[in-house]
Amino acid sequence: MKCLSKDMTIQGLVDKLYNSGNLDDDELCKLIADDEKNDLCKLHVEKSVELCKLEQTSLFKMADSKRREIYGEDVYIRGLIEMTNYCKNDCFYCGIRRSNSCVKRYRMTDDEIMSTCQRGYELGFRTFVLQGGEDSFYTDSKMCEIVSKIRNRYPDCAITLSIGEKSRESYKAYFEAGANRYLLRHETASDSHYRKLHPDYMSLDNRKRCLYDLKEIGYQVGSGFMVGSPYQTTDDLIKDIRFLQDLDPDMIGIGPFIPAANTPFEKFANDGLELTLRMIAILRLIFPYALIPATTALGSIHPEGREMGLMSGANVIMPNLTPTQNRKNYKLYDNKICMDDDPEICIGCIENRVSKAGYKIVNNIGNPKRKEFK
Ligand code: 5AD
Ligand code: FES
Repeated sequence: MKCLSKDMTIQGLVDKLYNSGNLDDDELCKLIADDEKNDLCKLHVEKSVELCKLEQTSLFKMADSKRREIYGEDVYIRGLIEMTNYCKNDCFYCGIRRSNSCVKRYRMTDDEIMSTCQRGYELGFRTFVLQGGEDSFYTDSKMCEIVSKIRNRYPDCAITLSIGEKSRESYKAYFEAGANRYLLRHETASDSHYRKLHPDYMSLDNRKRCLYDLKEIGYQVGSGFMVGSPYQTTDDLIKDIRFLQDLDPDMIGIGPFIPAANTPFEKFANDGLELTLRMIAILRLIFPYALIPATTALGSIHPEGREMGLMSGANVIMPNLTPTQNRKNYKLYDNKICMDDDPEICIGCIENRVSKAGYKIVNNIGNPKRKEFK
């Protein structure tokens, strides 16, 4: 896509976005594609976080100032529990797709899930994110049983599910059992791009239907997309933003695409760092209240990727609580970080990283726009 709006400078676009919270498609195109690269991208791959602090360019500065207006220095933590790596889907990008026969499959037992929550609780986590592939072993009644157990034992915690596309009835059942939040990235809001990332039997319409159902039921909803995934264009990224503006989710999770071995996309490029940071900053300015995680994929593509994410407008980190023997088999992409680290090590490490980037971890807070979770 060719960006038509050549008359406004990057600085002009950033100011307009900061003040109005929106840009038209051509303006977004220019900001995303950013021909004047050096104007924006001094928050750069080669530089340490310390240097970045001195050299942050306007987009990142404005995004950080917006996040500080709303959230101050606060960074929220969510404890991630990767409960199963079985998946009935076959997304071309994903390391745990069902056709990947090199993956050793596992499911955590109820007891393992409960003891993982307990360990997380003792470490200060007040949100548990149960994530998994789309695993038919977990029937609705099984899922509800797990959710109610956690709900009864931790009435002061938020329970987030991230287990894929389900029927409205299933989502309703989990909600009634005590789940409050649901993460389901839309992955791409462009039909033609969606078709290039997924097998024929999967559908973008159904994914969108899931997200609107979840919202209507009353979940706090997180969506998002990969940045730099194969065949993605600037136009696709603009569509992602427009879709999110319509959905208005509580959380927006984005991360760079990273090739995964033994998948159809294993040979594609691994160069999404800068564009991811730019997209985080743009999202912060369009969605000032959004919870935006500095994702594990960001930390995996660059040793200080999560710090850079925070400095670009992200305000959430999701440390991995999964027991280490399972963790190594939940490889959505290659070179995923924290594969051998105990949760205690991860949280200590993350505390250091967050403070080095200039922020501080706080617990147990949701989206301030949603008062019931203050
Ligand atoms: N690279 C980066 N992110 C990936 N995900 C899946 N596969 C990859 C990959 N190869 C992301 C998807 C999914 C989330 C759990 O992980 O966006 O929603
Ligand atoms: Fe896991 Fe650093 S965040 S060890």
